Amino acid sequence: MIEENDVSKVLDQTDILALIGEHVALKRVGSRYVGLCPFHSENTPSFSVNAEEGFFYCFGCHASGDAISFVRQIERLDFVPAVEYLAGRAGIALTYDSAELSKHVTKRSSLQSAVARTVEFYHDQLMHSPGGESAREYLDSRGIEQNDWERFKLGWAPDSPSALFSHLDVDQDVFVDAGLGYLDKHGRPIDQLRARVIFPIFDASGKPVAFGGRVLPSIQDDSTGQVLPKYKNSPETQLYSKRKTLYGLNLAKVDVVAKGEIIVCEGYTDVISFYKAGIPRAVATCGTALTEDHLAKIKSFSKRIILAFDADGAGISATEKFYQWEKKHKLEIYVADLPGGIDPGELGQKDPDRLRDSIKHAKPFMKFRLHRLFDVGDMSTIEGRVRVVEEAVEVIAEHPNPLVRNDYLMMVADKCRFEMKDLHVRLEQALRSRQYLVDQPRIRVQADLPVQTGEAGKAPATAEELGLSDRPAIEGLKTLVHNLEEMSEFFPLVLFTHPTHRALRIALDGLTQISEAGPKVEAAGREAKELLIRLAVEAPSTDPFDVVSRLVERGVNRRLERMKLQARSLNSGSKELEDLSRELVRIRILQEGLRSGGSERIDATGQLLVWLVESEAEA
Ligand code: UTP
Ligand code: MN
Repeated sequence: MIEENDVSKVLDQTDILALIGEHVALKRVGSRYVGLCPFHSENTPSFSVNAEEGFFYCFGCHASGDAISFVRQIERLDFVPAVEYLAGRAGIALTYDSAELSKHVTKRSSLQSAVARTVEFYHDQLMHSPGGESAREYLDSRGIEQNDWERFKLGWAPDSPSALFSHLDVDQDVFVDAGLGYLDKHGRPIDQLRARVIFPIFDASGKPVAFGGRVLPSIQDDSTGQVLPKYKNSPETQLYSKRKTLYGLNLAKVDVVAKGEIIVCEGYTDVISFYKAGIPRAVATCGTALTEDHLAKIKSFSKRIILAFDADGAGISATEKFYQWEKKHKLEIYVADLPGGIDPGELGQKDPDRLRDSIKHAKPFMKFRLHRLFDVGDMSTIEGRVRVVEEAVEVIAEHPNPLVRNDYLMMVADKCRFEMKDLHVRLEQALRSRQYLVDQPRIRVQADLPVQTGEAGKAPATAEELGLSDRPAIEGLKTLVHNLEEMSEFFPLVLFTHPTHRALRIALDGLTQISEAGPKVEAAGREAKELLIRLAVEAPSTDPFDVVSRLVERGVNRRLERMKLQARSLNSGSKELEDLSRELVRIRILQEGLRSGGSERIDATGQLLVWLVESEAEA
């Protein structure tokens, strides 16, 4: 989009030493400049810049490239914004390849205006429409008042299939691409969010990009007795990326900068509660875990981050990456002192003083974790204190900085009344076994490989080794790789048989983004890694649901074969055989459903998937 000539001009006129020098203290060594790599943590410099050629290279992590790639990596920008950034520094006016650019810009701005008009529409529905009455009552009952509705531009999505679409009067593709709705199987546009309280999501500059919609408790059970999900959120669009967006940042940023502190919580209503408690510097992830991209966004506003997750929730337990990010982005991560079992939203409504205290008494992340051990442990007996010490040492071993580890070790020694030198021995053991855990799988996998002639000498895996001829499984893995977060429950391990497929499926477990897959897939072996790379660059099938159904069908056939074998070994007339036959009949009926179309197929797929996973667990 930016003209090729301009890109070279920008590179020519960028002083790469000055650019990199803003992030790295560079020292001249001969003809090169060296410093500590900004892309991985190290104590001796392996990062070097060749000013003449305009390149950088790190001998430690192998990061490399020109000024544009440096800006992309350090500022986390895409190509075009990175060139624009450098052009700005060098005072170069860029010319854009106009046809494509104008298409891009026009598209984006039509999406933006559709989303902005949607915010107004929903907001107006909440403020005035008769249909919005139940939403108004609901918000009132939660202590969320009119001025909050206005500040957060809350809304109500009417209970009708296409009220929004009719109101907007935009092209169908704008409607769909903005994430506002979809086309049903007759090609009719349907609103994404219906009969829900709306929390519009804005980007940091205050432009609306997406929506979260909460079901009213009174209609959460729909007429068919199915429980509707509490929140439905906009899909990812050209305007909206979940992993980068923080709800409320547009409103919070002034106070965040002023106080040098930002609170990160999990829910829209938590943010509102903090606001109402006089702490207008909270943001929320939008239905995802906290990612490195979120932190990269936050760090330009504040270095001090207070996590205000439910203390017993999963958010806090995914911990080690926090230490790494803390170090990499030079952040200080704290944890709010929240009582267990209640989220900030509720706490703020019940006891705003307690919510304010939770922030005032936030603890550094490590300290928070150790205190929890002290709180739950039995400190009155020797055995109890030994157990606490053992767990505490494991926690401390996760921290990458030896000085920090030592400090906390002293705290534990003191608290549990043990000698520092004994704890040191324990810590050394813990550190060694952690190292072992990291190294072990790799050693094993390499030992299995037929010839070891080093990385370069390895032949690429064959199609057979990758299991490429198994198309349904390959399509399944591809769909999973491209939608890790949304699809992982639809592709359980039981659906895969080829060893490489299984190794890859296991390695992907628990990941929400493919960029985090590196170490786990590395450990899963060369074939799994190669397969992952292949799948990640191919376009996934357009109908993920069909992919799931086909895999389920095969999985069920396999399982039925096993059940038949099992049946043969049972005595006729026995209760086991009777149970097994009944089970077989039920599965046969579901199989019929699988072969029909429409909602019956969907339903049968879902039930059989659950059955496969459960019966696998029993077997
Ligand atoms: P919570 O279940 O804690 O909801 O989910 P909440 O924000 O406290 O909402 P209230 O107070 O019950 O009304 C936290 C966040 O997780 C995402 C939403 O972003 C929500 O704000 N979420 C939750 C979903 O995306 N889908 C769901 O079904 C539930
Ligand atoms: Mn809540």
